[in-house]
Amino acid sequence: SMQAEIAGISFDNLLLNAAGIRCSTVQDLNSILTSEAGGVVTKSATVEERAGNESPRMRALPLGSINSMGLPNHGFDYYMAYVLKAQSAGYNNVILSVAGLSPADDLLMLREIQQSGFDGLVELNLSCPNVKGKPQVGYDFAAVEQLLGEIFKFFDKRLGLKLPPYFDLTQFDEMAAIINQYPVTYVNSINSIGNGLVIDPVTETAVIKPKGGFGGLGGEYAKPTALANVRGFRQRLKPEIQMIGTGGIKSGMDVFEHVLCGADLVQIGTAFGSEGTPIFDRISQELQDIMIEKGYRRLADFRGKLKTL
Ligand code: DHB
Repeated sequence: SMQAEIAGISFDNLLLNAAGIRCSTVQDLNSILTSEAGGVVTKSATVEERAGNESPRMRALPLGSINSMGLPNHGFDYYMAYVLKAQSAGYNNVILSVAGLSPADDLLMLREIQQSGFDGLVELNLSCPNVKGKPQVGYDFAAVEQLLGEIFKFFDKRLGLKLPPYFDLTQFDEMAAIINQYPVTYVNSINSIGNGLVIDPVTETAVIKPKGGFGGLGGEYAKPTALANVRGFRQRLKPEIQMIGTGGIKSGMDVFEHVLCGADLVQIGTAFGSEGTPIFDRISQELQDIMIEKGYRRLADFRGKLKTL
């Protein structure tokens, strides 16, 4: 069985889309919801609708992808209406992602969620690397601490945090210590590796247009960093804070590795972008085969059980 659970919400399997990938419209969201995915995450909402950055703003590459989308989305009200409608239809596996352009915007959206009838998981994205002039909040530890303090004065629904990748163990120590002070439901690691640069040497040109070609890296480029972040946070967070693993998943074996590092659920970005909804059935079959081969009956049989030398 690939049954999974976060804070009392059960998922038929552990596979979700990653926020941002093919999940901006009602049509996109419904096609994930009716696929073999275990659940769906909405495109990160800002308070107001946004067109995003100039095109070309995403490029698929042999080993992954680079993007600088700039948070194109239909605005908070659109996604709030969607999740409420899905909830009324009996779906409890829809995650509402929000990414304010400021702490004040985060607080405004979370206050609206608190006052709404939505009772599902909320994912606060602290890690968009692509909005011009806006640093990734997740790299400003004092700002994260202050924001969480403000949020948990009023928010008592289930809140997950989408974090950027960290690269030094002192960063894991500090961020985990901050998060452990609050009733956070889950941590989702990682968002894209911000501000890479991919160039075409033939034309001597950057492959995407915004920000002089700088953009977030996903796919195979991201997997070892993602595994380290899932493992690093799992070792440091209090046990009641669950983990979602995101980064570099394109096969059942990649999911297996994320679960070994401690992931309760996983999200698929780059590879879902290139394959579409059939990826959920493929990867779930692959993971099932691996589990049978290894004699594991449930995810809990190997979750977090990575061995070290
Ligand atoms: C975008 C990219 C991200 O990695 C993210 O977390 C949010 C938004 C974007 O460019 O749209």
